[in-house]
Amino acid sequence: MTMLLESSLAHHPWVAHSARIVDIRAELPNVSTYDLVFDNPAVAAAYRFASGQFNMLYLPGFGESAISISSDPSRHDLLSHTVRIAGNVTQALARKKIGQHIALRGPFGSSWPVERCKGRDVIIACGGIGLAPLRPAIYHILNHRSDYGRVMLLYGARTPKDLLYPSEYDKWRGSGLEVEITTDIGDAGWKGHVGVVPVLFYRLRLQPKQTTIMTCGPEIMMRFVVFEALARRIPPEDVFVSLERNMSCGMGFCGHCQYGPHFVCKDGPVFDFAQVEPFFNLEEM
Ligand SMILES: Cc1cc2nc3c(=O)[nH]c(=O)nc-3n(C[C@H](O)[C@H](O)[C@H](O)COP(=O)(O)OP(=O)(O)OC[C@H]3O[C@@H](n4cnc5c(N)ncnc54)[C@H](O)[C@@H]3O)c2cc1C
Ligand code: FES
Repeated sequence: MTMLLESSLAHHPWVAHSARIVDIRAELPNVSTYDLVFDNPAVAAAYRFASGQFNMLYLPGFGESAISISSDPSRHDLLSHTVRIAGNVTQALARKKIGQHIALRGPFGSSWPVERCKGRDVIIACGGIGLAPLRPAIYHILNHRSDYGRVMLLYGARTPKDLLYPSEYDKWRGSGLEVEITTDIGDAGWKGHVGVVPVLFYRLRLQPKQTTIMTCGPEIMMRFVVFEALARRIPPEDVFVSLERNMSCGMGFCGHCQYGPHFVCKDGPVFDFAQVEPFFNLEEM
């Protein structure tokens, strides 16, 4: 009876489950990756996520925050979240040590179209911490590399010191990902491109009918990526953006995350551009 109850609750999005922090990696100033393992083996066994989905991380006494899952979806033993300190919840998380516990519920939301774009070329264009929600898609594609055509990562950060997961780029290159990195400002040792992410498009030869774009990062960057994609005649249905809005319930009930007719928590965070085009350039959205 207890096992039955536990396994049905394991799937319930209202229920937060306790998880132990098994590792913390400082990525950037104010940004760390937390590796979590569920305390309850029944929850761990039942939990699955798709690339691009997020969890609500719960710090008792402080509240909840929506944080994307940044680990490999094929790994069922551990969940990673890469978190920038922003306010109450993320500050409380930053005080936690390895071995301590937090709670989480999820996974929530839509995912990157990694199944739909099989057989196609894929461009992953992201900026800053926007690489975190796309890392599971990169892992998925590299785990099934022969299912895809050309796969390119166009990634940018403000300076070379602001690049996320730099130790993984060479491994990704060796596994069949074309990786182009740019920074807004270089430094003495920097040998990569200098400029913003959309500028990397100028160098690309694309097959517009064959290409899917996935983008995540500051909204201004995504606007320019979408502009470059559409200018190259990639249909809006093949351009995917991940949106961020303030969240509360995570399940389409409270209206905190409303975006035109959509709820970002339930219908998003990943949308194809055709769904959000009417609202995308409105400042008040
Ligand atoms: C789907 C989704 C995925 C996300 N993934 C990540 C992630 O992987 N890593 C990460 O570090 N952060 C992520 N965020 C952003 C994160 O949820 C906010 O920074 C979060 O609210 C921080 O919680 P807090 O209590 O520390 O700060 P709060 O006290 O909630 O917020 C601090 C400040 O940030 C503003 N704010 C809160 N939420 C957002 C938001 N969504 N967009 C813009 N401003 C906001 C608040 O208005 C306030 O000014 C994601 C958000 C969404 C919606
Ligand atoms: S967070 Fe409540 S409706 Fe989206």
